[in-house]
Amino acid sequence: MNSANDSFFDTPSAFQTAFKELNPSINDLLKCLNPDQQQHFWSSAQQVPLNEWKRLINTLSETAEELDGTHWVEPTSLHPDTLAAQGYDPQSTLQAGIGCFSKGTVAFLTVAGGLGSRLGFNGPKGLVPVTPLQHKPLYQVFSEKLQALQRRYQRPFHWFIMTSEETDAATQNAFAEQAWYDPHYIHFFKQGSIPAFLKDGQCALKEDGSICFLPNGHGGLFKALEHAGYIELFKSLGITSIYYFQVDNPLIHLDDPLFLGTHCLSQSSFSTKVVVKTDPQERVGLLVQDYGQLRLIEYNQFPEALSQEVTATGALRYRFGNTGIHLITTDFIQKCAQLALPYHVCRKKIPVWDPQSQTTYTTEGYKLEQFIFDVLPVATRPLLWEVDRKDEFSPVKNAVGKDTLETCQRDQINRWHRWLQAVGEPLELSASDSEPSTNLPTPLMEIGALFADNQVDFIQAWKRLNPKPKTLQGLYLHDAS
Ligand code: UD1
Repeated sequence: MNSANDSFFDTPSAFQTAFKELNPSINDLLKCLNPDQQQHFWSSAQQVPLNEWKRLINTLSETAEELDGTHWVEPTSLHPDTLAAQGYDPQSTLQAGIGCFSKGTVAFLTVAGGLGSRLGFNGPKGLVPVTPLQHKPLYQVFSEKLQALQRRYQRPFHWFIMTSEETDAATQNAFAEQAWYDPHYIHFFKQGSIPAFLKDGQCALKEDGSICFLPNGHGGLFKALEHAGYIELFKSLGITSIYYFQVDNPLIHLDDPLFLGTHCLSQSSFSTKVVVKTDPQERVGLLVQDYGQLRLIEYNQFPEALSQEVTATGALRYRFGNTGIHLITTDFIQKCAQLALPYHVCRKKIPVWDPQSQTTYTTEGYKLEQFIFDVLPVATRPLLWEVDRKDEFSPVKNAVGKDTLETCQRDQINRWHRWLQAVGEPLELSASDSEPSTNLPTPLMEIGALFADNQVDFIQAWKRLNPKPKTLQGLYLHDAS
């Protein structure tokens, strides 16, 4: 909960009076609660300062901002292949990034407050078995990438993981049991949570009368880092940039000194990897220039007509989709921890207790969330870094349709197939291979990040492989050392 907030010093009775003024219909609700439940209600209500309650209630009562975007301009991006044309010397930019990795001025951060419920998975999303053959959970995939990085730069990297009330215990237990990453270099911290509301604007309750709290969105990151004392820790460890990524994308490219070098040399406080949107309906946030400021507009708020607009060459005019992969300076994080980010109202199914009927049921209510990218307009020299989605972006989001486990495994295998084609291996099933029992591309195989995590490294590691495998079907390459 928002214990980090600054202006909360009300006495209980002053709080109750002021709260009732803010939310007069609460009296009707309170009448249905017994004295014990009323006590639970008030102690949970007081976990949120009054000024924050005011912001929450105001956000709910306001009609969502209708964006017309007629004055927006499409932003420009940097591309690794055209750096020189954009004024960067690729070699010294690369060296700058390598220098940051070698000195350890960068740490990694995963936002992982979400459950795998959209996938039908009962637990933290980071525990979803995601690789096609070994069924490694997302966290194991990331751990191996960070271990590969450690080998290359001959130093360990700090990894921060933001959990929520819902995901914290299961996540920490899994890391303790599986020993995926050196515990000295992993730092868990919980994001804040805020009250959930029903459609009539009233607080959602639990059976004991207390208010139902839900995670406050990944924009809660800044205050959560400050609350955990990690902004101070960044300083004492000499960490100046955070490589931020979402928990759902096993294709994430972490060993990326060119991106890091460009971020540092351009003195950007917030750099974002973007992919070109596939079609107007794709559910990715889009970047725009709004009166000279870079803004990210979430897919459900983007004006329909603008999302369809095309340029003279037939490309989508607003085409830079958010991957949720950012480099953020720690100085900027410290500044952002002092901001009151806006809340976005999201619909969500919530289990609630109804004081009238005295029953618990699941209903659609409102969850209020802060978004990390709402700090973009106040970032210094923010930059967009365009990447190829087939190499770096295939999130697991849904049980069916787009961005499923199957589409993600397909994209992982296709990437490894491209590497094999680069070393001249024919991608055919041998006569002795059994018929594949899935819809995934064949040969079905898996390559771990400790063997190689990009095509250049794969070519080197493959050359050293002796003997070479006879069949690629079922091939698992784990470690090149
Ligand atoms: C998100 C982005 C979207 C982007 C897409 C790319 C938002 C609001 N939208 O969409 O612009 O194009 O990813 O894949 O982020 N999380 C927390 N705490 C919370 C809520 C979320 O840690 O309270 C974490 C999740 O665990 C996940 C990430 O934030 O790692 C993104 O959340 P998710 O709900 O998956 O966002 P999308 O709607 O898929």
